[in-house]
Amino acid sequence: MSGSDQWAIVWVDLAQGPIELDALREATARLDEVGAVLAMREEVSGVQSFAASESPTQRPRLCIYTRPDAIEALHGVVADLLARFDLIGSTRAEVRDDEEWKDAWKAFYKPLTFGEHQLLLRPSWIERQPGDPSLEVVIDPGRAFGTGLHQTTQLCLQRLCALARHDIAPGSVFDLGCGSGVLSMAAARLFDGASRMLAVDIDPEATDTTKENLTEAGLLDRIEVRTGVLEELEHERFDLVVANIRPVVLIPAAPALRQRLAPGASLTVSGILGDELDEVWRAYEAAGFVLDARAGGGRRHLDTWSALDLVLP
Ligand SMILES: C[S@@+](CC[C@H](N)C(=O)[O-])C[C@H]1O[C@@H](n2cnc3c(N)ncnc32)[C@H](O)[C@@H]1O
Repeated sequence: MSGSDQWAIVWVDLAQGPIELDALREATARLDEVGAVLAMREEVSGVQSFAASESPTQRPRLCIYTRPDAIEALHGVVADLLARFDLIGSTRAEVRDDEEWKDAWKAFYKPLTFGEHQLLLRPSWIERQPGDPSLEVVIDPGRAFGTGLHQTTQLCLQRLCALARHDIAPGSVFDLGCGSGVLSMAAARLFDGASRMLAVDIDPEATDTTKENLTEAGLLDRIEVRTGVLEELEHERFDLVVANIRPVVLIPAAPALRQRLAPGASLTVSGILGDELDEVWRAYEAAGFVLDARAGGGRRHLDTWSALDLVLP
């Protein structure tokens, strides 16, 4: 969410009309997928989905938090997504200048535990509970993507925990498309021995938010943060690379990412919808990668999202 006083909501409602409850449940699941795709967009700060009640007259809806200047483009994006997921619906936007979104958005957050009780991810306003994992990442909803709630982020966090559990301890870590810095912070907590850590994002608001979160976590001296793209990096190689970005970026990046990996390094690419997985895999296979079966890696899925764990043979 931008620092300006105005913010916006785009409501997405499924069309009214007679519908069987089973069909309604199925449409609700597809609308949730639309919401998950929207939540990956830079201009979207968050998406809440409201399930239909058991009454066939009340339809499921999405509430998209965004910036006023993004409304027009979002109308088109939502229309395309509804068509892609075979849904008929309408959108309605409202611009607001009150503080209500902060409370609404806060109510949406919950703490999450990853790995085998290895890592806690919690918002700053929810206190630790007895028995919580000792390692934790504390996050505030910033302007950038990366609350940890999105499935694509969770797929990356699960991988980091699995590597740590199997004592695969990288000396260097590169987080491409760092967003709020959540994956860099998790890696810093899980891999004590990582002496070189780099977080890069194309969006200056993301790198600003990452720096704020790292400062808050006392990690700013461990992780270098840069605004930019992969192609601008010098010829440095890393033991662990995570890239949670959409395939439109991941696919052309495969050869350049190969150049950033040290021998035996582990690469996880996330941000992939199920029907995009084969295309992403083909790009990485063509760049010389094989699936990384270490620590239970390979093709992994969460809801409609997928990730690939890769290594150079
Ligand atoms: C889905 S978010 C992931 C954020 C965070 N890593 C997480 O897992 O929660 C993708 C991020 O990639 C950034 N991004 C998009 N294209 C990029 C590019 N070509 N180079 C670097 N970052 C990019 C976006 O600005 C966004 O912050």
